[in-house]
Amino acid sequence: MTQDDANLHPLARAISNPPAGWEPKEIDVSTPSVARVYDAILGGKDNFPVDRAVAEELVAFVPDGRAAAIYNRAVLGRGVRYLAEQGIRQFIDLGSGLPTARNTHQVAQEIIPDARVAYVDNDPIVLAHGRALLAENQYTTVITADVRQPEEILSHPDLRTLIDFDQPIGLLMLGIIHHLNDDEDPGSLVARYRSALVGGSYLFLTHFVDHGEETEELQKALLTDLGTGRFRTMEEIAAYFDGLELVEPGVVYNPLWRPDGPLPETIRLTEKMIGGGIGRKP
Ligand SMILES: C[S@@+](CC[C@H](N)C(=O)[O-])C[C@H]1O[C@@H](n2cnc3c(N)ncnc32)[C@H](O)[C@@H]1O
Repeated sequence: MTQDDANLHPLARAISNPPAGWEPKEIDVSTPSVARVYDAILGGKDNFPVDRAVAEELVAFVPDGRAAAIYNRAVLGRGVRYLAEQGIRQFIDLGSGLPTARNTHQVAQEIIPDARVAYVDNDPIVLAHGRALLAENQYTTVITADVRQPEEILSHPDLRTLIDFDQPIGLLMLGIIHHLNDDEDPGSLVARYRSALVGGSYLFLTHFVDHGEETEELQKALLTDLGTGRFRTMEEIAAYFDGLELVEPGVVYNPLWRPDGPLPETIRLTEKMIGGGIGRKP
């Protein structure tokens, strides 16, 4: 430490001169994480060189590959706004990812100022960054849990404090179910979450769309780099909404779900990369 540093307040010293390894201990900066790679693709700052390297590799598989992630954030905004306009006052956002420009609570609270949002993600970096963002928002919480453990999540005390399961809920599963392998039985898992919702609730889900050979190499790269990332057909994605009434226009590619403006002139692979929709529990 220099003499100048020694005169600084300890907090100012830490900020101006962060020691190596400033990251929370539970965060492994040598292995890419799904949340940080997605953040890097979206142009965020909460990622490390290993994440940026994977992000660059993945987006290069598809012309204008970054746009697929941007479309997914955009449809999240349109879908949450739609749900809040239907009177949905509480949301569970499973696999919420790192906070970015417009998060679920910000969109929902523009319409319903006291809308409640429970963010759930299994990556501890989401909790580390989410806490700071949400510190002054009493209607939100961040829970670190694995979506494959529905009983743990559905009975989590922080979730139960914020969310009333006797009232309609907006359940968000955007870009998360494609991180489950077939042998993890994603269909039954989504069904378990659907069963916890009262009538008048909604499931909002998006997922990587299988385009055969066109997406084969990208899927291989995802599995190699991140260990997860499954493309499924539109029929398989539609089956996650079993027993629900699909909101118009049904299960479609992200940019086609209730667009705010004109549709893209051509529908390239990046526009078709992720699709989904919203279903209402009768
Ligand atoms: C592609 S990001 C999607 C973020 C956000 N939902 C969106 O669509 O913009 C996927 C997120 O799911 C999280 N995730 C992956 N597997 C998970 C699991 N088994 N349990 C909980 N979260 C998981 C990752 O950490 C990551 O933050």
